[in-house]
Amino acid sequence: MLGKQPKFLPSPLMQKDMQKEIVLSGIRPTGYLHLGNYFGAMRNYVRMQEDYNCYFFVADWHSLTTHPDTKALRSSVHRVIAENIACGLDPDKAAFYVQSDVPEIAELYLYLNMLAYKGELEKVPTFKDKVRLNPDNVNAGLLTYPVLMAADILIHRAVKVPVGKDQEQHLEMARNFAERFNHRYGEVFALPKAFNFNSELVKIMSLDGKGKMSKSENQMATIYLSDSDELIQKKLRKAQTDQGPSTPGQQKPDYIENLFTLASLVSDPGVVNKFEADYNNCQIRYGDFKKQLGEDMARFIAPIRDRALAIQQDSAYLNKIMRHGAEKARESAARTIKIVREAMGINY
Ligand code: TRP
Repeated sequence: MLGKQPKFLPSPLMQKDMQKEIVLSGIRPTGYLHLGNYFGAMRNYVRMQEDYNCYFFVADWHSLTTHPDTKALRSSVHRVIAENIACGLDPDKAAFYVQSDVPEIAELYLYLNMLAYKGELEKVPTFKDKVRLNPDNVNAGLLTYPVLMAADILIHRAVKVPVGKDQEQHLEMARNFAERFNHRYGEVFALPKAFNFNSELVKIMSLDGKGKMSKSENQMATIYLSDSDELIQKKLRKAQTDQGPSTPGQQKPDYIENLFTLASLVSDPGVVNKFEADYNNCQIRYGDFKKQLGEDMARFIAPIRDRALAIQQDSAYLNKIMRHGAEKARESAARTIKIVREAMGINY
């Protein structure tokens, strides 16, 4: 392969980086980030950026499939960037960018659309849910949402994709599209897999005991990273409890278990142990527990919220981050598009 030698030799540091596996995930800029996002996703991204070659991005194109009104988009994109950085995402370690800054993704989306079948797209449960919720806006972008997501992943030839259960089917489709492409045009893509930092993923339930915390619904039962100290304390005061256990060592109902989970994440171990013992002796006073948890939670959230707010107000810094991220992402994306075009014979 004499003619195919690289033009330059990567430095040892670059070589090390190139050997790391590629991790990629996207965050839709719809609604406000909450504790479930923090413990289920963001905190893991922060750990992953140390050991992997990470690409994290704000999926603004995806948000158009359900949110055609773009008035609030700019501030939502800024907020999501600021909140992730405030949580510890480091734009010098990971490539952190906005999807629409990388036009190569749209090009790959176009090619993959030719390999995606209408029938399989119509069967996707998330599509059917959105049709049911919004029957007046069943647009082609909504139908091809999984294709765009596949393009997001394959554009960097990522192999590890940290996503929740609700996204696993989309990921399976990304694998199918990649396989079809490889089969038709030659081996270009590695097959991406779901990836979670470890199995001890914490589940955060909503404070009223009804399902998960939500980016947009159920706001009094969800703790957002942008909530004030007072609001956090108020939400915890209102969290669902009951009359308390009547037999020692009794199993906790879900909503009580959830309060203990939250305490284990933000309170001193001594505090958790005390209330745990009180529960087991049937002496727990939920009012005291929730007051303590409210204070500890506010202390946990405050620095993240304040830092995120400061970043949101610093448009020079935000712009610098977005430009820097776009540059890194486009470099990798351009490499893939070149290989894709060559494989397809679109290189006249
Ligand atoms: N669909 C994902 C969600 O709703 C967001 C997303 C878009 C994504 N593109 C992605 C996640 C690529 C992982 C990889 O949460």
